[in-house]
Amino acid sequence: MRFGIGLRAGVAAAALGLGLGACATVPAETTTAAVTPTAVADSEDAVIADIVSRMSLERKIAQLIQPQINSFTPEDMERYRFGSYLNGGNGGPYGDEYAPASEWLRYADEMFDASVQPLANGEPVIPTMWGTDAVHGHTNVMGATIFPHNIALGAAGDADLVRRIGQATAVEIEVTGIDWNFSPTVAVAQDDRWGRTYESYSENKELVATLGAALVEGLQGTPGDADFLGDGRVIATAKHFFGDGGTDNGVDQGEVTGDLAELMEIHAYPYPATIEAGVEAIMASFNSINGRKMHGNEELLTGVLRGQMGFDGLVVGDWNGHGQVAGCTVTDCPQSLLAGLDIYMVPDDWKGLMETLIAQVEDGTIPMARVDEAVTRVLRVKYRAGLLGDNVERPSERGVGGQFELLASPEHRAIAREAVARSQVILKNDGVLPLAAGANVLVAGAAADNIGQAAGGWTLTWQGGRELDRELFPNATSIWEGLESAIEGSGGTATLSEDGSFTQRPDVAVVVFGERPYAEFAGDRPDLVFRDEEGLELLRSFQAQDIPTVAVFLSGRPLWMNREINASDAFVASWLPGSEGAGVADILTGAKEATGRLSFNWPAECEGEPLNNPEGAQFPFGYGRSLADTSPIGTLREDCAALLVGPSRELFGSGRLGEGVTATAGTGTLPSLLGSAGGVTARGYDRNAQEDSRQIALAAGSQLTLAQDEDSGGAYRITYEVLARPSGPVTLTSGDGIVDLTPHFAHAFEKGWREMVITEACAGTLGESITFATEADISFRIAEVSRAELPEGAECSF
Ligand code: BGC
Ligand code: BGC
Repeated sequence: MRFGIGLRAGVAAAALGLGLGACATVPAETTTAAVTPTAVADSEDAVIADIVSRMSLERKIAQLIQPQINSFTPEDMERYRFGSYLNGGNGGPYGDEYAPASEWLRYADEMFDASVQPLANGEPVIPTMWGTDAVHGHTNVMGATIFPHNIALGAAGDADLVRRIGQATAVEIEVTGIDWNFSPTVAVAQDDRWGRTYESYSENKELVATLGAALVEGLQGTPGDADFLGDGRVIATAKHFFGDGGTDNGVDQGEVTGDLAELMEIHAYPYPATIEAGVEAIMASFNSINGRKMHGNEELLTGVLRGQMGFDGLVVGDWNGHGQVAGCTVTDCPQSLLAGLDIYMVPDDWKGLMETLIAQVEDGTIPMARVDEAVTRVLRVKYRAGLLGDNVERPSERGVGGQFELLASPEHRAIAREAVARSQVILKNDGVLPLAAGANVLVAGAAADNIGQAAGGWTLTWQGGRELDRELFPNATSIWEGLESAIEGSGGTATLSEDGSFTQRPDVAVVVFGERPYAEFAGDRPDLVFRDEEGLELLRSFQAQDIPTVAVFLSGRPLWMNREINASDAFVASWLPGSEGAGVADILTGAKEATGRLSFNWPAECEGEPLNNPEGAQFPFGYGRSLADTSPIGTLREDCAALLVGPSRELFGSGRLGEGVTATAGTGTLPSLLGSAGGVTARGYDRNAQEDSRQIALAAGSQLTLAQDEDSGGAYRITYEVLARPSGPVTLTSGDGIVDLTPHFAHAFEKGWREMVITEACAGTLGESITFATEADISFRIAEVSRAELPEGAECSF
């Protein structure tokens, strides 16, 4: 693909002389160049200033708008020329989350082509760029290498390893035609109840700074090197500036309070290191600092980030984050641009926002100089990434574009396996590890052979999930598969038995269990108590039979596990290893020495303060045993009042299915209640928070079922909104009961959100599932489905 940007002759010649036209290779440049101008920086500035001077207001604003794929068409791209776009955690090309890599690339080419069609009057044409969340490998794309999440890399504690992971990730991103990664997260998580703790390398700011900078170098290359942002490199983003890891009570997107200098000392600490490493983008955080949302905070976004820290790349907003600024809505927020945000991430409402921004420049609310400054920053990053100039190639023709064999290549998988092995932290071992050669090993637990669970959030879908089918992971080895081949390879026997039953008594049992996947606020919790007792029961039953046990705990954070630790002979914090389960086996079998060390304090008390504090830690920061260390740890205290609170009985809420709940339609399943199957289509919908709800369309003749794995009892409560008056019968069934919803849906239409309560009074005996069935096309939204004990005889309501 060739097109002309119509640079004025002199400037164009200078640009070409610098090799600007060459694919993805730009002149050496360091981010401190703004401080010490060089000839390169001068010509960079001149090229960009020339382009900006010839852009219309509409096209300038378009550079500052970032919609999500599936909210616009190629025609929209050609008409509006968005400067960039993203795929959210739940979005794949052409509406298919599980699209093959070739479709991602086809989409990238299509959008690129649309963005570079010649414009009237010689207005400069500027290629668009695509951003993605490749936060532990390029894991939105099926078949990519899935690296361990950051908390595990913190335990491995090796900057060179993280750099190699960054580079491998960049290569896989570029294969699919994507330019920009929203990673690394450099949060310094201080409260493990936060749902994003696993995205944080450590609660220690120095470790975060070191590893965050290393990932930036891996993704982008080193400033000054010939391949900086060249082939197999992508733009990196340090996020979320700043305070994401410091919210009160670990509430995602929450409030950060305290003395500003002290807060900066911890939470802003990693940014200078990533800027020094050349990071080209920084994402503003959702949180507020002392009552002020970051997306509207000029003192911090401009004063600190630009002034004090000298950042000269672009500042991108987070998902509708501008809409949370006081006085703003998603489609009306000059405050953010004025405060120093350069790109609005506005997944769906891009059109309204563009219109208001244009009007606000025209009426003087926003000075043109500020628009030009923001556009300049966006173009500067494009220039450095080789995305400005005469000969920018289509994504499929750039660098490693289209070399699909590089996705999960043996080299990349070897790096991931190394990272897994190096991140395993042994908390206890009475000598059962390493597993004896030739032993008969039973591997138990529903997580043992479940890659979705081992990979955690941000894997294929936003939330990830243990219900993600094995076929969705063509290039992966589960923990069970890794153990099986290692054990059998050394003359032993391995048997997988999820429920722990056996016919031949094993020499040792490995129990794999842990947290179910989550992302962002869906992973926030009120305390650090791990309540799922599947693993505990297995461990205790082996213990009762005198079978030695090894606990392999999958989690996004340290949790209070004293019961499980007491019930096991060895306990391994395995974190969220990803696609290379063999790395876990490398440690359990002793093929490699255990070198992983905690990058977070591990709590001793179930109700203790889950804050960064070595006092009161059962295992402090830096703890981790070598395989040879078999010293006893004694019996840990097991009393915990919080355990007496019953489990939640939510079928769907806060954007996710409850534990043990499945959604099915026809013969298909809808993981996380998203996607299409059997005539049902479910998409994320933002009610009070991002994708906390679902918009569901049922075609005539289809059914949607939500089922619990066991009947928890109680009435069903459903928070819903009807989007169209049904033109045929709609029913809801559960157990023996059937309720005609037709009149209720007709009545609820245009009434906004409502709650429906289904008790035995109108439905007869209720069962563990509910099914919506329809004879006409219907569409509605659901925010919550739960079960609750109501007083005897309670009526139904709609
Ligand atoms: C995530 C997106 C995700 C979206 C769902 C955001 O918070 O970061 O990637 O797709 O919510 O609405
Ligand atoms: C998350 C970001 C992510 C963005 C795009 C947001 O919800 O907070 O970390 O980069 O969505 O998916």
